Amino acid sequence: MSDQPTVALIGAHGHGRSHTARLEQFEAQGLLTFSAVVDPVAPPTQRRRPWFAGVDELLAAGAIPDVAILCTPIHTHAPLATTLMNAGADVLLEKPPTASAAGFRALVETEWATGRRCQVAFQSLGSHSIERIRGLVADDAIGAVRHFGGAGAWLRDTRYWARSAWAGRRVLDGVAVVDGVVTNPLAHATATALRLAGAGRAEEVAAVDVELYRANPIEADDTSSVVVTTTTGTRIALGLTLCAQWPGQPVVTIHGERGRIDFYYTLDVIRIAIDGRPPVVEKHGRTDLLVDLLDARAHDRPLLSPLTDSGAFMAVLEAVRTAADPRPIAEPLVCWVEDSAGRHPVVADVERWIDRVATEGYGFEAVGAPWARREPA
Ligand SMILES: NC(=O)c1ccc[n+]([C@@H]2O[C@H](COP(=O)([O-])OP(=O)(O)OC[C@H]3O[C@@H](n4cnc5c(N)ncnc54)[C@H](O)[C@@H]3O)[C@@H](O)[C@H]2O)c1
Repeated sequence: MSDQPTVALIGAHGHGRSHTARLEQFEAQGLLTFSAVVDPVAPPTQRRRPWFAGVDELLAAGAIPDVAILCTPIHTHAPLATTLMNAGADVLLEKPPTASAAGFRALVETEWATGRRCQVAFQSLGSHSIERIRGLVADDAIGAVRHFGGAGAWLRDTRYWARSAWAGRRVLDGVAVVDGVVTNPLAHATATALRLAGAGRAEEVAAVDVELYRANPIEADDTSSVVVTTTTGTRIALGLTLCAQWPGQPVVTIHGERGRIDFYYTLDVIRIAIDGRPPVVEKHGRTDLLVDLLDARAHDRPLLSPLTDSGAFMAVLEAVRTAADPRPIAEPLVCWVEDSAGRHPVVADVERWIDRVATEGYGFEAVGAPWARREPA
């Protein structure tokens, strides 16, 4: 019997497939034992390793893993992570951590009470670019920071919103889900910008202003701006959409008095543009957050993306959850396209307005995005 830590995957389809691939790779490298898969729908790997239809069945079989990867619908995160930590497992928890700030606070208490570790799967927080950017800013490479910007323009087609009952829902059967562009696909942009701005805990956020819109026939937002002010007065402004014509590389930018640093966080690439000098592009490495969690357990050291440091992100999620329902963007500002990416809406000029939010540091209405113009009273 191997003495490597056992890791179970909860939620095997959807994004769980990429966890499966990494778990198989890490198992082959001798880092862990991929001990079980939990999903009500049998996974293709069921013949090769133990499969359970639910977490209760896993625990009833005495198959408590050292670590559980929780990759299930958003509204199941809090109850399942609570059960797993109470049973003695550490958790790599998919983002967003929970569907409400109250659920988040309760989960933080469970983590403390059980002495377990919970790492939130904001994978860009494992990028080595973050230390490099912090070093550059601390060395005054771009002068005083004016604000942090974030721009994310992706597209999702109708199949994405139809894949699961919870997709595109703010609430399902009376339970908060809070799916949408800010809290799900482009959540990493906000989490990365908050990390670079030094805001981890909820108490470090002074104000959040969200403007939520949708071009799809869904409940949730697919085109939104987010402006966060931290308690130190730093402003973070993000423009985010899933209704671009073509998917672009999301970027978080630090705007300084004498230049800017762009962080393409899915690629671990940074572009340093200091006034009067040619820009420099650097590619950095990344620590995998599961490997980091295993290492933190083995050496009793802090995590790269601890649950408590998602508090500031959860303040943003809570602002999305409690905001009025997203306002529809109507024709002629939306056109429906059918191409190799499927059938999807395209919001006119959305990249330009998103870029203006990130560059100017204000939300859609303030930068004059046409769908956000208020009618005169
Ligand atoms: N970190 C990332 O880059 C990234 C990317 C995509 C999705 N995600 C996150 O992963 C999570 C899952 O998203 P998805 O798009 O794969 O969802 P999905 O609906 O496509 O898949 C969810 C899976 O969980 C299973 N499941 C549902 N309830 C379960 C339960 N009670 N116990 C065990 N399994 C259960 C479903 O059968 C399905 O296999 C979400 O939190 C999402 O935000 C993260």
